[in-house]
Amino acid sequence: MASTDQPTSVQVWDPLVRYGHWALVIAFAVAYLSGEDEAGGPDQLHVWSGYAVGFIVAVRVLWGLVGTGHARFSDFAYGPMTALRYFADELRGRAKRTIGHSPAAAYMIAALLLCLTATVATGLVANSDAGKNPRASAHGLVIAQAHADEHKGRSERDGGKHGKGGESVVGEVHEALANITLGLIILHILGVGVASVAHRENLVAAMFSGRKRSGDEG
Ligand code: HEM
Repeated sequence: MASTDQPTSVQVWDPLVRYGHWALVIAFAVAYLSGEDEAGGPDQLHVWSGYAVGFIVAVRVLWGLVGTGHARFSDFAYGPMTALRYFADELRGRAKRTIGHSPAAAYMIAALLLCLTATVATGLVANSDAGKNPRASAHGLVIAQAHADEHKGRSERDGGKHGKGGESVVGEVHEALANITLGLIILHILGVGVASVAHRENLVAAMFSGRKRSGDEG
């Protein structure tokens, strides 16, 4: 016979949030690890995994606007003071448990989505500058390569507009943004760990199953 004091669980993360999250983790990891510039520009794995990151982020942002339940941005729209207070309480082990994203998580998620978007956008610009867009026609590639060579020649003369090894400034901004995003990801994982311990629940498992216990949330 089922006991009545069994904790109940509720569906919190829909499949789009869950599959999207883990697909984003894979796509970002592949893009980051394949990001070292070869002599002739970024490798195709980097370019296509970067497109995948951009696509997943775009779908998630759209879902935040038109989706349902805890996936909606309006479900985790908190003022900055609320987030700061929550963060301080969380560190002291006094924060109330939330079913959807907590106020602290909400700001980390916004920062991650913004940095991922900026990283992809600068990657697209740097890539089209270098003429390495895989969709470019063979003719386009020849012209773009000529432009890239011209840029490289200019970078050796202009001493500043282009970075080391002829890499464009936008390329360097792209690299810096990818590293900032990685820093945020490390903080995000630490935050997930702290919240999991503080509220005695496995948030990573919840991001797989979509379910969380209910009944003791604030
Ligand atoms: C490329 C690396 C990662 C990125 C870009 C990322 C990004 C995100 C984003 C955007 C969300 C919000 C989910 C949504 O509402 O759609 C989220 C939530 C979450 N992520 Fe990640 N994540 C990354 C890695 C990880 C890893 C490695 C873990 C596990 C250790 C993890 C665990 C979680 C959990 C548990 C949540 C839900 C947090 C909550 O309960 O409020 N993430 N992540």
